[in-house]
Amino acid sequence: MIYFDNAATSFPKPPQATAAVLECITAWCGNPGRGAHDLSRRAAEKIYEVREQLSSFLGVGAPERVVFLQSTTMALNASLKGLLKSGDHILCSELEHNAVLRPLYALKKKGVTFDTFPVLGRTNNEIVQEIATRIKKNTTAVVCLHASNVCSLSLPLPEIGAFCKSRGLRFIVDAAQSAGHFPLDLRAMHIDALAVPGHKGLYGIPGCGILALGEGVTLAPLIEGGSGVDSGSHTMPEALPEHLEAGTLPVPAIASLNGGLRFIGDIGIPEVQKRARGLFLAAKDRLESLDGYEIYEKDTPGAVLLFNRRGIPSTTLARLLDKAGICVRAGLHCAPLAHKALATPEGGAVRLSFGLFNTREELDSLWHALKHAFP
Ligand code: ALA
Repeated sequence: MIYFDNAATSFPKPPQATAAVLECITAWCGNPGRGAHDLSRRAAEKIYEVREQLSSFLGVGAPERVVFLQSTTMALNASLKGLLKSGDHILCSELEHNAVLRPLYALKKKGVTFDTFPVLGRTNNEIVQEIATRIKKNTTAVVCLHASNVCSLSLPLPEIGAFCKSRGLRFIVDAAQSAGHFPLDLRAMHIDALAVPGHKGLYGIPGCGILALGEGVTLAPLIEGGSGVDSGSHTMPEALPEHLEAGTLPVPAIASLNGGLRFIGDIGIPEVQKRARGLFLAAKDRLESLDGYEIYEKDTPGAVLLFNRRGIPSTTLARLLDKAGICVRAGLHCAPLAHKALATPEGGAVRLSFGLFNTREELDSLWHALKHAFP
């Protein structure tokens, strides 16, 4: 089996992550903050250790502002629904995932309006200009992804963050495809709310999303429930992270991040980027050596390559590759506006997304499978 679907979830997981999960569930997986006994205490200590690792890795500057939720989607919902109010206007990029778009469509019913800004074919300065020209009197925030999940385009967070700061706008970032792939620094990039998955570029197991908040950023909780603190109160505790962490935490998934972050840390982000670009360029070469393929955003090498065979629905192509033991994703990838911007056919396109365990030999197998399917 050859796995080119790392943008959906990275696979396999590194031994550091699986060992951390095994240790957690066999040695210390109590419910953190929920008991005055040794297992609960040890779990709380281990969880705090991961908050510290993430705080440092993401440039948050305070472990308590690293909040654990169930997914990136939940972190984005919590940010958008917790920060925006009726009458607000916000801007998002043309590449956004449904994890941003659907909460925004839902917020429309509550009086929040939004516009998109284009990014394809623009320089960093031009992207900031596109944002600037769309600002209205009631614009309160910019929300955007860091890296697209359909192609290897990334947005200039330092420039957008500096612009938002200069205009007093909130800056909300979807780092679903960039955490572990690109350097991220919440404070240096002036980010107010940063949503990060545990199970993609950080190589943890599914079940945990991270919401990192800037200093002084307060959100209304998305959900309420037990926090292990001040149980007699009718409301969630005011202090972070408990304010936003109702219910039992996904402890094994959080534990896996300890190993995943060490794995990434040992390799280093520059090397992660170098390997992704190498695989992208090798894949592009192989596809270009065959007739009939269209590659989107082919001059932006990175961890995601989007392509089609002209005249063949993307899902048909993905099924053919699946039969050859090659896992890819086809369709719209939950990012319909991005496909519109990229002008893919109605049925979307095929996505290869690379991880640290992929090799060039696997790309040779992809080439052979395509050659065999369309001689
Ligand atoms: N958002 C993930 C993807 O792009 C699931 O596949």
